[in-house]
Amino acid sequence: MEAKKWAFAVSSIVITAVLSLLLLRILEAPGGQHAVFGDLNIIPAILQGSWSPGKTIGKDSVIAPNLTTCHESSELDIHVYCCPPKNGSDLTVFDFRFPDPSNPLRVRRPTHLLDDNYIAKYNEALTIMKSLPYSDPRSFSRQADLHCLYCTGAYYQQNSRTPLNIHRSWLFFPWHRMMLHFHERILGSLIGDDTFALPFWPWDIPEGMLMPEMYLNSSFFDKERDISHFPPTVVDLDYRCSFSESTCPERGLTPDEQVNANLAFMYNQMVSGAKKTELFMGCHYKAGEEGLCDGPGTIETAPHNTLHRWVGSSLNSPAREDMGVFYSAARDPIFYPHHANIDRLWEVWRGFHMDNDITDPDWLDSFFYFYDEKSQFTRVKIRDVLDITKLRYSFEKVDVPWLNARPKPSVQPEAARQILKTREIERTSQFPSHSIISSDFRSNRQTLDASVTVKVIRPKVRKTKGDREEEEEVLVVHGIDVKEEAYVKFDVYVNVVNETIINPGFREFAGTFVHIPSGVKLARRKTSLKLGISELLQDLEAEEDESIWVTLLPRNEGCINTSVDGIRIEYLR
Ligand code: C2O
Repeated sequence: MEAKKWAFAVSSIVITAVLSLLLLRILEAPGGQHAVFGDLNIIPAILQGSWSPGKTIGKDSVIAPNLTTCHESSELDIHVYCCPPKNGSDLTVFDFRFPDPSNPLRVRRPTHLLDDNYIAKYNEALTIMKSLPYSDPRSFSRQADLHCLYCTGAYYQQNSRTPLNIHRSWLFFPWHRMMLHFHERILGSLIGDDTFALPFWPWDIPEGMLMPEMYLNSSFFDKERDISHFPPTVVDLDYRCSFSESTCPERGLTPDEQVNANLAFMYNQMVSGAKKTELFMGCHYKAGEEGLCDGPGTIETAPHNTLHRWVGSSLNSPAREDMGVFYSAARDPIFYPHHANIDRLWEVWRGFHMDNDITDPDWLDSFFYFYDEKSQFTRVKIRDVLDITKLRYSFEKVDVPWLNARPKPSVQPEAARQILKTREIERTSQFPSHSIISSDFRSNRQTLDASVTVKVIRPKVRKTKGDREEEEEVLVVHGIDVKEEAYVKFDVYVNVVNETIINPGFREFAGTFVHIPSGVKLARRKTSLKLGISELLQDLEAEEDESIWVTLLPRNEGCINTSVDGIRIEYLR
């Protein structure tokens, strides 16, 4: 009995002590209270008085940077250092809070519809931002370096020595949304305008297919750009040159042809190739070594990557700084309207696929750090940025003609199949021993110095419409091994008869692989390219065929050192 009383008394004392310590800590942290209640996992650390942003918080499989690990990123002779002056371990961290719901909505408008008044205001804000010293986290150079930090692996992840990379996976859309949200808020606060919104560069619609005029002037200008791409050159959303145009044959399209090619390309990346969430968002990148993946979604692959290269300066080959390589990309003011358009396309896609948001808590709870307009160091989770109305911004709606730009086959499908069959028979009689190259290349390490065409067996021949609607047929080019630091681009086509005339404007185009350098060496791993082809097979009248012909068509010099393990078909629900 006595022992029980003692135990009770002791535990009451302990509990009271713990609670009052906790209370003290909360009162002490100015404005940081929210962080405490926002994440109960950090309470033990707080009790020890040792919590700092560098310490582990959150679950093991969520992605988050360990701020105390910021280091130089380098490869060979390139040394990139973009760490902040303070490493973050002694900063007060604020948990993200939504802007007041009564705040005015910031309306992001397309670059071709801006008026002089707005441009002058934006110019003023950007000029101030550029004049702030590097020690000020709101300065333009610090924001540019923020992008550098997260894309060159300058931070390790919490709990491991694995570099964190926000490209080439499902982190891509939300991370860049966060970056732009804070950039926009800071710009607005510098001119005392809480309605200020960034513009978006709508390169996906004909009116936006030139480099926006305003970015050629005043504080918006950056001299590290390819001047041959200034207006009136129409953007090439499928841009492929690794160095300069002189080493890369022009596609030779007239402006109208280029516009149409862009629209057909957009259709593939937004509609037929992006019917399932993973195809659009990218692979499921999780914490630690095993969770790593490398597989961007359709829009990140292109136009996102291709436009970075198209804007960057050919005089700075091979990296094409600023925009052509990630470590320097955000130094160019055009980075921001480019990404505002990416952000808008994410919203457009979500509008088509209402119930397909990712619900995996590992993604929702992954978090990153940004400074807000009051220079408060803020921890933001992906789940915080999924509702743009809560973030108090919106996009002015523009018509999207690519929605009706469904491409046509280059050759009438029945005729194409006859030709391909005849070729197969001829080849078999010419080279009986290795007539059909297998779609598994592992024994002969297939490099892409020339095009490769293989026959790929379809595991299921789906005859009924119901079968086809439930699951997306996915062409997987697996084990892609690129040499780092190269711009690599190859296209994937199905049932192609004539490689020399084929391009993404035709229905045979299944998708493209694009690798853009980050500027430094990140852990090298093989990539898979996943392409949704159900609608393409329907248009090529190949839905009931036992097999299809797949062609990998190299589009630049970077492919010479790129190898592929094979091609197979999978199904995605
Ligand atoms: Cu983080 Cu457009 O790149």
